[in-house]
Amino acid sequence: MNIPLVDLKIQYQKLKKEIDKNIAEVCASASFILGPQVEEFERSFAEFLEADYVVGVANATDALHLAFAALGLGVNDEVIIPANTFVATAVGVMETGARPVLVDMDPETYLIDLKKIESAITSRTKAICPVHLYGRACNMDVIAKIAQKHSLFIVEDVAQAAGARWKKKRVGTFGQFGCFSFYPGKNLGAYGDGGAMSASSEKLAKKIRSMRNFGSEKKYEYPQRGINSRLDSIQAAVLNVKLKYLDQWNLKRWEIAKKYSQELKPLEKKGILKLPDIVNPETHVFHLFVVQVDRRSKVIEFLSKNGIQAGIHYPIPFYLQKGYAQLGYSKGAFPETESASEKILSLPVYPEMTSSQIAYITGTLKKAF
Ligand SMILES: Cc1ncc(COP(=O)(O)O)c(C=O)c1O
Repeated sequence: MNIPLVDLKIQYQKLKKEIDKNIAEVCASASFILGPQVEEFERSFAEFLEADYVVGVANATDALHLAFAALGLGVNDEVIIPANTFVATAVGVMETGARPVLVDMDPETYLIDLKKIESAITSRTKAICPVHLYGRACNMDVIAKIAQKHSLFIVEDVAQAAGARWKKKRVGTFGQFGCFSFYPGKNLGAYGDGGAMSASSEKLAKKIRSMRNFGSEKKYEYPQRGINSRLDSIQAAVLNVKLKYLDQWNLKRWEIAKKYSQELKPLEKKGILKLPDIVNPETHVFHLFVVQVDRRSKVIEFLSKNGIQAGIHYPIPFYLQKGYAQLGYSKGAFPETESASEKILSLPVYPEMTSSQIAYITGTLKKAF
């Protein structure tokens, strides 16, 4: 068997007719920039999230940048982010001139350690950016309480968790902004880059609507500064087809995670492998199924020899790398994040996976040990 980490080809085969038709409509109408497909997606994604406002943008990194910029953040301001995240969370903050202040992860959830947030807050802190990493929703009750106590904005990084909920409410709707990525491999993926922001007020929505288009409200009039970060119409056409399947796909991902977990429990009991919490299908939409193993490279090699592709999210924390040295952190700054980075391994998860593929992967892992 050959099993990739994510298989985007089978999903396209299943949706080909609908997707091709929608893309052809964009081409035929020549409405390539901010046309009816973008408007339709913004409307239906807002409905899906039960959010009042959604604005399509080019990707989630821009969404984060625009969110902090629209909230007036800049040089001398600080934003709390988790140390265990994809580099883009930090980039979004740094694009405004503000400084990301990192907080270690909770070893059980892999998410920002809720107990360590308050000690990272200074007089310069303006916002908290929780990241719903791997598809798991952060505890938004605790984060909202901290934000309220210290008068901080909340900008959620929902790049990996579109559709997840904290209790009854979709993540991305708890703060001033929620930032979504539609990078192809995401739970809701476009056929190129794409992103969206949910906004909590009409004023903020209007501001980012203008800022994503050079700061324009009327053609060639710029009441504020902005960038070029529009959601592409062809990407919106793809997303309009896929959005209606998102909840069912997310549930499939959770079911796959549950199966993995049941099958791999004996390895965990022997202390060979650490499994993620399965939580419940609303709270965790399993963008990634992340386990921890010792001698990871050997395990990856064995899986690869048997046709199974594994991933690592992420092998070297971004703050320890040359490009982000200006943040001022060195090895040992966040022990939980660093220790996990040496052992984590992501197994394939995508909604179209079959039971026999899961059985093959878990069987191969057992053989590996
Ligand atoms: C946690 C997180 N934040 C932000 C991003 C950035 O998303 P995009 O690629 O759409 O800019 C990603 C993308 O991988 C991500 O995983």
